[in-house]
Amino acid sequence: MKGTFTKHYDGRAVLDGFTLDIHEGDIVRIMAPSGGGKTTLLRLVSGLEENECGLGNDFARHTFSWVFQEDRLTDSMSGLSNIRLATRGKVDRATILCAFEELGLDDPSKRVDECSGGMKRRMALIRAMLDDGDVIILDEPFTGLDSDARALACRFIEHHRHGRTLLLVSHEEDVLPIHVDRTVSLLP
Ligand SMILES: Nc1ncnc2c1ncn2[C@@H]1O[C@H](COP(=O)(O)OP(=O)(O)OP(=O)(O)O)[C@@H](O)[C@H]1O
Ligand SMILES: [Mg+2]
Repeated sequence: MKGTFTKHYDGRAVLDGFTLDIHEGDIVRIMAPSGGGKTTLLRLVSGLEENECGLGNDFARHTFSWVFQEDRLTDSMSGLSNIRLATRGKVDRATILCAFEELGLDDPSKRVDECSGGMKRRMALIRAMLDDGDVIILDEPFTGLDSDARALACRFIEHHRHGRTLLLVSHEEDVLPIHVDRTVSLLP
């Protein structure tokens, strides 16, 4: 899968003809300093942002499941309802409950605004991994998770990936207990 991406904000190039060329089915870690364009690249790849580069883009024919950099959960609903809503009724209740257990979350019916940051992050991860996009995008999915929770999250990702291509952004200092096939740097 290959695409070349260009994006300017306020006349400044965040990405200027950056080519992402990866094998289908790989886990790819994207690295750059803060503000280096990681989220912008993910948004361009998934079509959430318009690509200014006119070259061909293989990613355009794919569907995407996201963990956004922000949780983007509905506060007034339970975690369970958030995930049911986002997966459009295609994932049964038992599968979602099982996912909560796998990640050490004990109360799927708790309102999101009563949950901790780390709980919300894990719910955002469940929502992405149980969704049926053929490319999975995880933008800093481990924020707020300690090393034990992070290890569970990595195991959960491996269990629910089913061979799909995965693009991962995580802090550079994070040592991840997950096999990464390729690391891509956005530095020039
Ligand atoms: N909608 C926008 N309007 C204007 N500038 C933007 C917009 N989105 C991103 N930028 C700018 O583009 C640059 C790259 O931002 P981006 O969020 O892609 O970086 P990042 O590598 O994901 O950073 P972080 O590690 O902090 O999440 C930054 O300078 C940011 O201010
Ligand atoms: Mg970002």
